[in-house]
Amino acid sequence: MKILGIETSCDETAAAVVEDGTRILSNQIASQVEIHARYGGIVPEVASRQHLLSVIPVIERTITEAGVSWKDLSGIAVTVGPGLAGSLLVGVNVAKAIALSRGLPLIGVNHLEAHIYANWLGENSIDFPVVCLIVSGGHSDLVLMKGHGDYLVLGRTRDDAAGEAFDKAARILDLGYPGGPAIEKASRQGTASIPLPRAWLKGSHDFSFSGVKTALLRLVEAGKVSSVADAAASFQAAVIEVLVTKTVAVARERRVKKVLLSGGVASNGLLREQLIKHSPLTVMVPPPILCTDNAAMIAACGYYRLRAGRIDGLGLDVAPSLKLA
Ligand code: KG4
Ligand code: ZN
Repeated sequence: MKILGIETSCDETAAAVVEDGTRILSNQIASQVEIHARYGGIVPEVASRQHLLSVIPVIERTITEAGVSWKDLSGIAVTVGPGLAGSLLVGVNVAKAIALSRGLPLIGVNHLEAHIYANWLGENSIDFPVVCLIVSGGHSDLVLMKGHGDYLVLGRTRDDAAGEAFDKAARILDLGYPGGPAIEKASRQGTASIPLPRAWLKGSHDFSFSGVKTALLRLVEAGKVSSVADAAASFQAAVIEVLVTKTVAVARERRVKKVLLSGGVASNGLLREQLIKHSPLTVMVPPPILCTDNAAMIAACGYYRLRAGRIDGLGLDVAPSLKLA
């Protein structure tokens, strides 16, 4: 079964065709990063206008590159949330129009769930249960996945998400936007020599990253940071130590088969390396291009929803604050 996936929840206009939830036939991403970089962050109104300009050409390119025709497709999967309302609307309305005109099933997909499904791309089967760490610009969730579409959220962030913390730290250190890759790059020139706090929130699997961000800000304001590279490396080490320690603790506690890492922050080399090093179980993590926002993961997730008969009508609406469970 071939599914067309469409993703417009944030600042990437993306489309992909994926076969049987695993084999990518085409994966196109039109990034708006350079446009938003001028403003130091995402401007929602600019994002939705840009999606409007890009979405049709990106879908057409995807279909051509995949070498399929509309009649080869079994469904249209589209992100309904969480994300920016105006941006989500663009993808959902285009998906509805295609589903109606081509007589194809419409499948609304949760963006967070799709980040987990990036792990199925290129893999045929993963035995359940698994523990998933989803770390993106808006979320840091530790999730027990008991089966397809079956989630128990064990921990989530109480304030800033991991990616958001990276973006704010980069702003504090004047490293530009997006912050995650900028912090990682600067860190390579430094050492994690500056002591920064870790919020362990004992007895809970939740995360909190606003304290470490504020501690960094105070040091910069007090003129106590002589090396931006050391500050970046220290910040990165602090955030990653907490993510890894808490994920490993959950993996030990629960009788799971594997640990799945995903979301934009999962493209961070140190996080990948440290989790693999400390996890008692096999860690699966998609290649970096499938960790950040893409539509292949939407199509993969859509395939499993379609298989379970979970399709939507043309009344499908966006859900900007959608939760995983
Ligand atoms: O999953 P994603 O592409 O979009 C959302 O769903 O939010 O995640 C974007 C987030 C941004 O906050 C970005 O700074 C962060 O992922 N990120 C990284 C890296 N690459 C992207 N954080 C740390 N290290 C990276 N290499
Ligand atoms: Zn995302």
